[in-house]
Amino acid sequence: MKVTIDGQSIDVEPGTTILQAARMIGGDLVPPAMCYYSKLKGSGGKCRCCLVEVSKGSEADPRPMPKLMASCVTGCMDGMEVNSKSSARVTEARKSVTEFLLINHPLDCPICDQAGECDLQNLSFEHGNPKSRFIEEKRTFEPEDIGPNIQLHMNRCILCQRCVQVADQLTDNRVHGVLDRGDHANISTGISKAIDNEFSGNMIDVCPVGALTDKTFRFKSRVWFNKPFNAHRECTTPGCCGKTTVWMFGGEIQRVTGRKDEYHEVEEFICNSCRFDHKNVNDWVIEGPREFEKDSVINQNNYTQKLEKVEIDTEKTILLGRDIDRKKISMAAIPLTTNDKKS
Ligand code: SF4
Ligand code: FES
Repeated sequence: MKVTIDGQSIDVEPGTTILQAARMIGGDLVPPAMCYYSKLKGSGGKCRCCLVEVSKGSEADPRPMPKLMASCVTGCMDGMEVNSKSSARVTEARKSVTEFLLINHPLDCPICDQAGECDLQNLSFEHGNPKSRFIEEKRTFEPEDIGPNIQLHMNRCILCQRCVQVADQLTDNRVHGVLDRGDHANISTGISKAIDNEFSGNMIDVCPVGALTDKTFRFKSRVWFNKPFNAHRECTTPGCCGKTTVWMFGGEIQRVTGRKDEYHEVEEFICNSCRFDHKNVNDWVIEGPREFEKDSVINQNNYTQKLEKVEIDTEKTILLGRDIDRKKISMAAIPLTTNDKKS
């Protein structure tokens, strides 16, 4: 089947969605996705970020589709023509969806651990309005403790339901889900049961915002001060690939996550033992620096070349007493093994 998106054509298998076809083409035309996750069955269709305009339904029925379609759940048809980035109507709709998502989402990026790798931050950067028109009070929830490893900030949740799908598909006993309806809908364990399944940590990786964060990394560092390296270990947990990204600050591993691709989806899921219990460098075989998108904030201070000293261009008084930290950010004392890929 042939499908054309923003003037670029590609042949796809029957059953391919417009979003998947767009990802095969790649580049700017790929719609943003806050709830679809290719590794989770049944994901998508909830956030409406991925709306596109279908200007020609198919070769057999060339009529345009009257409404904008969610590309993550709309299948391609032979001869279909789609407008994504090229459509002013789509740009306007994405702007509205972003505004809608930000109605209740707190603007607490300066203290949020997700800042720097948050899909909602990226979406706001692309499509956000600098001013909010929302004058009502934002929806807030009482803090709930959902266990020893994962911090739930319900106020930040956009109800994409990816975490529920992780619990359904990777663990054998889901203890949390979406409770209540409408404006009251929230992610909760209902009876404050701890989420302690061996694969529950993957909920942190799939959460597009800072609603689920790693308690072992909480407030330790901003992600752009950490250096991500690919690493692996012989993991004995059934189902765990043992291949991770370790986030280092100097010689210290501060955080372990799954390896994410350009769409911020993990390549493979990892177990809680790799994620939370192995923070010693000797636990891992370090493969080399992780490749990131060029414009990512995480890619600031490119470290594929060794830096003797990191200079942060800000008022001197703010940095007083931060010399040790600067050395750790530079990682000048640590030998650099590259995997021959430039970030
Ligand atoms: S907690 Fe995160 S992953 Fe779960 S529904 Fe909310 S935004 Fe989505
Ligand atoms: S990514 Fe398509 S509706 Fe959310």
